[in-house]
Amino acid sequence: MMPRQIVLTVNGEDHELWVLPSETLLDVLHDELGLADVRYGCGEGVCGTCTVLVDGEPVSGCLTLAVQAPGHQITTLRGLLGPGEALHPLQECLLRRGGAQCGFCTPGMVLTALNLVRRCGRPTRAEIRYALIGNLCRCTGYTKILDAIEEYAQTAAAGEPERDPP
Ligand code: FES
Ligand code: FES
Repeated sequence: MMPRQIVLTVNGEDHELWVLPSETLLDVLHDELGLADVRYGCGEGVCGTCTVLVDGEPVSGCLTLAVQAPGHQITTLRGLLGPGEALHPLQECLLRRGGAQCGFCTPGMVLTALNLVRRCGRPTRAEIRYALIGNLCRCTGYTKILDAIEEYAQTAAAGEPERDPP
């Protein structure tokens, strides 16, 4: 298989890369661009740890080929950080509520939840559970994650400043 030259726009920056047609977006973001916040879990679309936003929509990086991604805006958790690597308000809620323990699932949880809150404003508990159906956590028992997302949605709905992805 011959490598192809592509340009990926990740967290607002363009990256010129040579990739194999079979390489996944997860492999390229993690291994080529060194983004440790895009994580390999199951490799088959089940666990959600490799979630990134593509044009604002959550996508499994392990099920997406890198050659499908040029021309789209890719956002990883790192792209949500503020000046001085300040945490996104949703990350702060997760920390405050104990919704991030080992943190392995956290990037996928945050990106999926952020998309939900942007779509729904104040989602119900059931809507949050449904949205997170593809994001597995082995540590928290989920309740604290749901509490944190509810708190964040409440804050965002009250008009507190929110950082948009690039
Ligand atoms: S590594 Fe992609 S869904 Fe598990
Ligand atoms: S906090 Fe450890 S997997 Fe979720």
